[in-house]
Amino acid sequence: MSLVLDPAAQDLLFREARTANTFTDEPVTDEQVQAIYDLVKYGPTAFNQSPLRITLVRSPEARERLVQHMAEGNRPKTATAPLVAILSADNEFHDELPELFPHFPQAKDAFFSERPVREGSATLNAALQAAYFIVGVRAAGLAAGPMTGLDFEGVRKEFLDDDHTPLMVVNIGRPGPDAWFPRSPRLSYEQVVTTV
Ligand SMILES: Cc1cc2nc3c(=O)[nH]c(=O)nc-3n(C[C@H](O)[C@H](O)[C@H](O)COP(=O)(O)O)c2cc1C
Repeated sequence: MSLVLDPAAQDLLFREARTANTFTDEPVTDEQVQAIYDLVKYGPTAFNQSPLRITLVRSPEARERLVQHMAEGNRPKTATAPLVAILSADNEFHDELPELFPHFPQAKDAFFSERPVREGSATLNAALQAAYFIVGVRAAGLAAGPMTGLDFEGVRKEFLDDDHTPLMVVNIGRPGPDAWFPRSPRLSYEQVVTTV
């Protein structure tokens, strides 16, 4: 009763959405990914810094290179998902800040002149955007399979550079047979929420 979002959309995005471990062969197109990004880019980040970067791993050769860096249990699904994306944080996001936060262009130098500060902020805010992205995948009627079981330094060296920190790899597609384990319980409101 308190939620204004259509109940079918609530189910699509959360109640019935699952983390997929198998996928059908149906391709995921660049148009779908663009529609997802053009929706979730509006999710908020600090100073609108928008540090998430997305690397679509499309070629079989690149997929093979990525699979090598995945934990053993993550390899089969990463090898067979219709689309795999590497989500990373751009630690040099401040270069875009004057454009992204035009009503306070001094933010770049006032807050983000030091690399360690930028790294902390980029990691937090790109992780937020990664969550928006996963929900956006669901909004496209697709399933996501986010994974952090991987060799991060290996993925960084193979696909990124020193200015980018990999956060997770996400398999994307329509769920295949036996795509998930039984739903695990969630913590209750009472377990999580305190009021002071
Ligand atoms: C950041 C993140 C990292 C994850 N890493 C892995 C992983 O390496 N391997 C894996 O099989 N599942 C991984 N998962 C999947 C979670 O176990 C799964 O999303 C969670 O149990 C909820 O499942 P459900 O959406 O089906 O309810 C990861 C999920 C997230 C969000």
